[in-house]
Amino acid sequence: MSDPVPLLNVQIDGIWHQFPKGTRVIEACAQAGKFVPRYCYHPKLSSPGNCRMCLIEMGMPKMGPDKKPELGADGKPVISWIPRPQISCAQDIAEGMGIRTDSPLTRECRHGVMEFLLINHPLDCPICDQAGECRLQEFSVQYGTAGSRFLEEKVKKPKRIALGPRVTLDDERCILCSRCIRFMKEVAKDDVLGFVSRGGHTYLTAYPGRPLDSNYSLNTVDICPVGALTSTDFRFKMRVWFLKETKSICTSCATGCNTVIGARERVIYRQTPRENDDVNSCWMCDYGRLNFHYVNSEDRLTAPQIRLNGTLETSDWGPAIVRTAEELGRFRPDEVAVIASGRMTNEELWLARRLIETLGTPHHDVVPRWGEGDDLLLNADRNPNTLGAQLLGVANERPGENLARIVARVRAGEIKAVLALQEDLLEAGFTAGDLNRLTFLLALNILPNPTVEAATVVLPGAAFAEKRGSMINAKGRLQRLNRAIAAPGNAQNDWEVLRELLQQLSGTAGPYVIEDVFKQIAGTIPEMRGLSLSKIGDRGYQLEDVEDVPAAPAPEPAHL
Ligand code: SF4
Ligand code: FES
Repeated sequence: MSDPVPLLNVQIDGIWHQFPKGTRVIEACAQAGKFVPRYCYHPKLSSPGNCRMCLIEMGMPKMGPDKKPELGADGKPVISWIPRPQISCAQDIAEGMGIRTDSPLTRECRHGVMEFLLINHPLDCPICDQAGECRLQEFSVQYGTAGSRFLEEKVKKPKRIALGPRVTLDDERCILCSRCIRFMKEVAKDDVLGFVSRGGHTYLTAYPGRPLDSNYSLNTVDICPVGALTSTDFRFKMRVWFLKETKSICTSCATGCNTVIGARERVIYRQTPRENDDVNSCWMCDYGRLNFHYVNSEDRLTAPQIRLNGTLETSDWGPAIVRTAEELGRFRPDEVAVIASGRMTNEELWLARRLIETLGTPHHDVVPRWGEGDDLLLNADRNPNTLGAQLLGVANERPGENLARIVARVRAGEIKAVLALQEDLLEAGFTAGDLNRLTFLLALNILPNPTVEAATVVLPGAAFAEKRGSMINAKGRLQRLNRAIAAPGNAQNDWEVLRELLQQLSGTAGPYVIEDVFKQIAGTIPEMRGLSLSKIGDRGYQLEDVEDVPAAPAPEPAHL
């Protein structure tokens, strides 16, 4: 076992505290409840100390003639204060250190820095996307002065520059903190941004001929403390104070980055990363971040449909569920297959497993989905819950293996009915001819696709941002999805659809709330024993004995 980190005594605004050795001064102040304003400092990046917003007064113990700290009447060291202000973001605490975060000198320093930063800053807050979450606005109110003494012409700099396909730059708003430059160099490992020119004319740009096109480029927008870097996708779409924020997770790959979904009135406007050092630090990839527009699609399935005389007709839920159960009752167990999805939540997969058991079919699997991964966050497994599907017994250790056999049996006429849960079978190795060969096809999905068009019964489900539930990421971390918006029209939560179907097939009542579904899982699956949806918490829960299961891509079903 490593030695415990020693605690150091530090006086902050007259009160003594203890912090572990190695704590940054600015972090020690925050832990003591004394927020020190900052622009260039970011806890996950190096500290250049260039904005000077974090100035404080600092002192060290006064040494007596015996070379030992002099003690005051309270028995604590007497502080000898350094006569100049110091930055708090680039140095660690030391034994006996004294810090003043709210002295007349620090207040004066902040006024000065704010005045300096605003000299050339344009007054375009009314049309700036950062308004409402801009550190320059916030610190102006808190630490700035009301008036301006600047009478000269402001420096003009480049505006509305497309730095890359997803990021727009307004150089006049940039306060030259260099966070974006350091992020691209230190985290994204694509050293593409830098400052050019001198003094008041310094501005940010990308290296000539190099666009900011990294798959992590939009993190620069998150960490830019002002409105200099904006997301081209979100720009001018919605004022941030109108957004309802919901903590959730990204479902675009098996990493499961923690996110905040920003939505208003049933429309998602953005997804931003939420800090979780066990999963994604403070970052997420652009691919996952922007992969939500399909949820807002006008084409969403909003009502159940039943095929009557060869045509899909809109229906109510009752007749659609009854027709599905009646049709399924006509087949032998081995004539039915259930093709589920690694995008389904644990709760949905659990009910899918119950459905498989109720039907008695040995034919079930999920559709594997592989892409290119990277060394940072993007996982090659594009399904967010492959581990959940394996743990809950819907897929085996090689997702896709059974799928190939199911396709072969459909072609041989042995499987006559397929339940396609959140998947388009054409992406699972089936052809349009295979779908036409089926006697019964159920499509539970959110958008039209060839499977939906060929289905006997279509049931409209909910997208990831429209439901609650849990998933297990590639490292065995159990995490929660939360509902940010309501599903459109008559669409329903997929777990409720599966419960209705189970009830109709078995004649017994199913769980009424999603917590009860999780309770059933926790009562059966040893790895989840003792857990509940609320125990998972916002930052997830690391399951024991659950390893990185999808080690190698399964063979492409289409080639088998
Ligand atoms: Fe800082 Fe934003 Fe300017 Fe980059 S664009 S240096 S993050 S203010
Ligand atoms: Fe310390 Fe910028 S935050 S100098």
